Amino acid sequence: MLGPLNHVGIAVPSIDAAAEVYKNLYGVVDITDPGELPAQGVRFCFVNLPNSQIELIEPLGENSPIDNFLIKNPKGGQHHVCFEVNDVHLAKKEMEEKGAKVLNEPRIGAHGTLVIFVHPKDSSGVLIELMEPTR
Ligand code: CO
Repeated sequence: MLGPLNHVGIAVPSIDAAAEVYKNLYGVVDITDPGELPAQGVRFCFVNLPNSQIELIEPLGENSPIDNFLIKNPKGGQHHVCFEVNDVHLAKKEMEEKGAKVLNEPRIGAHGTLVIFVHPKDSSGVLIELMEPTR
């Protein structure tokens, strides 16, 4: 059962350049400092909106999982949508029982809580991230 929409993930060649666009073109003032998830090959920051967040991600290190996405979308593009679920392990089990392809074992994501990703083929071509809420 999906909880709130947590964020929309956007892959870009440079999160610093993309953050400038949200600042200068859209007037967003609350953008987090960049963080890194070396094990997942991404550098990220969050654009904080009144009701949600945009997660900007750029490749970090060699063989980042978003390298191929940026080859297909050189200027960047919408990469995933993230919903909250109370229990990621339970969600993984239920998704797999329903025949969905879960792409990873539960791991710590950019918010410091457990996340999984569900293959886009199961959700109208959209990569879905499921995360446990921050408490
Ligand atoms: Co995300």
